Amino acid sequence: MSPLLEARALHAGYGAVEVLHGIDLSIAAGEAVAVLGPNGAGKSTLLRTLSGLVRATDGSILMAGTAVHTLPAHRIVATGLIQVPEARHIFPYLTVLENLRVGASLVRDAALKDEALDQVMTLFPMLRDKARQPARTLSGGQQQMLAIGRALMGRPRLLMLDEPSLGLAPRVVEEVYEVLHRLRTSSELTILLVEQDVYQALDFVDRAHVLQNGRFALSGSSAELRDNDTIRTAYLGL
Ligand SMILES: Nc1ncnc2c1ncn2[C@@H]1O[C@H](COP(=O)(O)OP(=O)(O)O)[C@@H](O)[C@H]1O
Ligand SMILES: [Mg+2]
Repeated sequence: MSPLLEARALHAGYGAVEVLHGIDLSIAAGEAVAVLGPNGAGKSTLLRTLSGLVRATDGSILMAGTAVHTLPAHRIVATGLIQVPEARHIFPYLTVLENLRVGASLVRDAALKDEALDQVMTLFPMLRDKARQPARTLSGGQQQMLAIGRALMGRPRLLMLDEPSLGLAPRVVEEVYEVLHRLRTSSELTILLVEQDVYQALDFVDRAHVLQNGRFALSGSSAELRDNDTIRTAYLGL
């Protein structure tokens, strides 16, 4: 079966500074894959390049067989490649409901929008309770749930998450991952996860790549990486 997402020899950066030096990434429908790596390795740049927010300077990105690296970002979202951005970026002065509706702004069919809203509020009952409140009144964990909910409103086929655990208390991180687990099993969502929390990420995904200085330095199944000496010393502190 052909992969849902396939990036080949991807190069990207900012102005004259190249950050990604040839990334090959392939994700099958239904898989969960992580990209791990230290601060500054290029993890967010990789997700932004897949989303079309940063332009690939070389290489290609295929989503369900369609070349997307030349498309504007809103057309990429329409293929079902949808990102939950780093640091959440919710709209603080809009209500929870308004934030969710922004996520569905490219979905034309009103019935599909209502269906998505109902699904998201069933997944996160807290969002239903707080629908009329300004998003800034939510806790950090609730804002992360809102950011995930907003991405789900766009009806993703592949959901990309940029450090969903960042800045959250351990108990809240557990809650976020519990929701991601439910999403995987209930809606067969394909997931690309960027994390610095290697423990959480390897528990959640099928396999992972370690990004270092804009290249994949190591790739393998979660079990292989958990046993890998470099991972154990550099990331797991064992
Ligand atoms: N908007 C930007 N303009 C210029 N350089 C950037 C920008 N964003 C990130 N960088 C640089 O790109 C490199 C990779 O950053 P990033 O993708 O954010 O890494 P990570 O998410 O792995 O921490 C870093 O050297 C960073 O300073
Ligand atoms: Mg980042």
